[in-house]
Amino acid sequence: METVLVVGATGNIGVAAVMAALRSKRNVLAVVRNQTSADKLVKHIGSSKGITFAEANVLSDSGVKGVVDQVRAGKLPAFQHVFSSVGGQYTTISLQEITTETLHSNMKASFESNFFAYRDTIGYLLEQKNPSSTWTLCTGAQGELALRPMPAMTQGALFSMSTAAARENEKTNVRFNELYLGFRVEVDQDAVQHGVTKSSEFANVYELILGSPEVRSARVRVDGPDDIRTLKYHRKF
Ligand SMILES: NC(=O)c1ccc[n+]([C@@H]2O[C@H](COP(=O)([O-])OP(=O)(O)OC[C@H]3O[C@@H](n4cnc5c(N)ncnc54)[C@H](OP(=O)(O)O)[C@@H]3O)[C@@H](O)[C@H]2O)c1
Repeated sequence: METVLVVGATGNIGVAAVMAALRSKRNVLAVVRNQTSADKLVKHIGSSKGITFAEANVLSDSGVKGVVDQVRAGKLPAFQHVFSSVGGQYTTISLQEITTETLHSNMKASFESNFFAYRDTIGYLLEQKNPSSTWTLCTGAQGELALRPMPAMTQGALFSMSTAAARENEKTNVRFNELYLGFRVEVDQDAVQHGVTKSSEFANVYELILGSPEVRSARVRVDGPDDIRTLKYHRKF
């Protein structure tokens, strides 16, 4: 049975990734910051069956690396897939209101964390040589719309990182893909309250990516409800 390492597992998007992994009969290795976050994930999923929790600070440059070290030591389950969606504030503050502290904390939470997740797991996946390995990064349309300047700038950096990772893995055993999301997704309970798309519905997209070997070094675009049912993607080069 395969395992998906999910970084940002307790967020709106991470919960969808966990659901997709479990529905596709895979186990999950969920990186969480503490027991409270682990409990939150179990509440959203409805059970802890198939989920192993690894506590780590994903904002630190040794957080995910420490998890991979434990996998290598046999203390945590081996994984074949990675999904990453750590995120910072979804704030509307204008560029001139962004303090240096806000800039640093958001770049750390939304960009550095996802960069560390990639940098410190890709070597392991390449070494394992599993021909069906995947690495998926969630990005958002704010990076182009910039209606929310702070999250927009972090997405801009993630776009470039995605393209570099897609390039580096064009011919490796790891199918790297960027999952570009153009509308709001929230955990089911919040989604109902706010009239946005539920994580449990959005989960279908990651299930499709996992099951589509032809989708590689691509941007998978999810612009509307139809794109949840049928993958819309283009290769980056
Ligand atoms: N939701 C959307 O509609 C949407 C749309 C487009 C793109 N995206 C992309 O997906 C990313 C995540 O979005 P989301 O809605 O899932 O965000 P979210 O619900 O706020 O979840 C963020 C995740 O990052 C973790 N995290 C945040 N700050 C942390 C910290 N200081 N230390 C440890 N963990 C921390 C959270 O852990 P805790 O649960 O422990 O706080 C959670 O797992 C966005 O940044 C963006 O790149 C999302």
